[in-house]
Amino acid sequence: MTTETIQPTRALHGTLRVPSDRSITVRAAILASVAEGVSYIREPLESDDTSAALSCMAALGARAAPLGSGCDSLGLRIPGLGLRGLRAPTQPLFCNSSGTTMRLLAGFLAGQSFDSVLDGSAQLRRRPMRRVTEPLRCMGARIEDTDGGAPLTLYAAGRPLRGLTYDMPIASAQVKSALLLAGLYADAPVTVREPAPTRDHTERMLRAAGVQLTIEAEGDARRITVYPPQAPLRALDMLTPGDFSSAAFFIVAAAITPGAYLRLVEVGLNPTRTGLLDALKAMGAMVTVTNLREEGGEPVGDLEVVGAELRSVEVGGALTPRMIDEFPIFAVAATQAQGVTLVRDAEELRVKESNRLEGFIGELRKLGARIEATADGFVVEGPTHLHGAVVDGLGDHRVAMALAIAGLRAEGATTILGAECVAKTYPAFFRDLSSLIADR
Ligand code: S3P
Repeated sequence: MTTETIQPTRALHGTLRVPSDRSITVRAAILASVAEGVSYIREPLESDDTSAALSCMAALGARAAPLGSGCDSLGLRIPGLGLRGLRAPTQPLFCNSSGTTMRLLAGFLAGQSFDSVLDGSAQLRRRPMRRVTEPLRCMGARIEDTDGGAPLTLYAAGRPLRGLTYDMPIASAQVKSALLLAGLYADAPVTVREPAPTRDHTERMLRAAGVQLTIEAEGDARRITVYPPQAPLRALDMLTPGDFSSAAFFIVAAAITPGAYLRLVEVGLNPTRTGLLDALKAMGAMVTVTNLREEGGEPVGDLEVVGAELRSVEVGGALTPRMIDEFPIFAVAATQAQGVTLVRDAEELRVKESNRLEGFIGELRKLGARIEATADGFVVEGPTHLHGAVVDGLGDHRVAMALAIAGLRAEGATTILGAECVAKTYPAFFRDLSSLIADR
């Protein structure tokens, strides 16, 4: 177990390119495997989650090779095997702790003509899988779960899956993506209705591969329909942007530190991901977007953040899924804001890598935060003078990183136990953080 100690800091300065996007890298690894020809995924994320996705795809016959000179990896070259070209894996596919890999592969593999087993770490085995297996069964997939979770056994489909119209009870990009990927192997369209927009990387990538897909807005809700492919999928050639969810830790770090100035370059700014920016702006944070452009079908830009006084805000409704991974770090921002911040419609936080409404809140309270869980979110009273303490990362990358940022604003040292879990999406997090701390 690795321990990291964070000292309070009065100054944060510098420029950083955060590691590339996890959600996009995992999707690219999956989709490239069944395209026609070679895909080039430039600047993919290298982390525990993406290694898990790539090793599952290699076990299915699509082995990625490094682009460029090996250790100085510029990206990946992935051979596409065509929609029916994957081969049966000889062992269970180990998704480690990557929920995205497991849920997307459940959909993607449900219509294949071979059996497969999806398994993962003890943490992933505890996460709910019926949200994907139930609608997939409605498409005719034969799947066995283990008390609603992994391991999942997917049996060979003797015929194409059936089309489906599915009203998702929760706003989940993983469920939506699993069903859209299953739609590649269905004999009729698959329509998924999401109650509020969730990250749309799968839709963008399917379209880039030439798959017919429509999106209709119904107020906050969206209906996405994927049509059975009429032609081979086009190979991808894409540059992966910086992960907004990794940038979020530094955005908040600068926003709550008086006198701070950070520039974060090449950050993915897909509007389905940037709810945190809207919430922070409503709190009075000073964040400027420059150089906004589109790269590889995704909006990308640079961010400049300076420290400012923050005031409380209320977050709920369609904003919640647009910042679903940012609530641990958002809670840290709320501890430094004047007034009572309220988060609603966020029950999903109970089933992330840890229960982010119970465990995380308990750890933040050890630093002196005035935060309470509610039935569907949390409430924070600020501003608070945080104090250092020994806290636990709870095996949850975003909890460990949020606690580190809280530690910057605490009096005295903050020790984070189990800090190695940041490798899930951001192996160099502590190194990057110390490169921005100016007063050492
Ligand atoms: C993800 C979707 C979200 C998010 C997760 C990544 C994805 O999960 O929390 O970190 O890549 O599709 P849900 O679909 O469970 O909301």
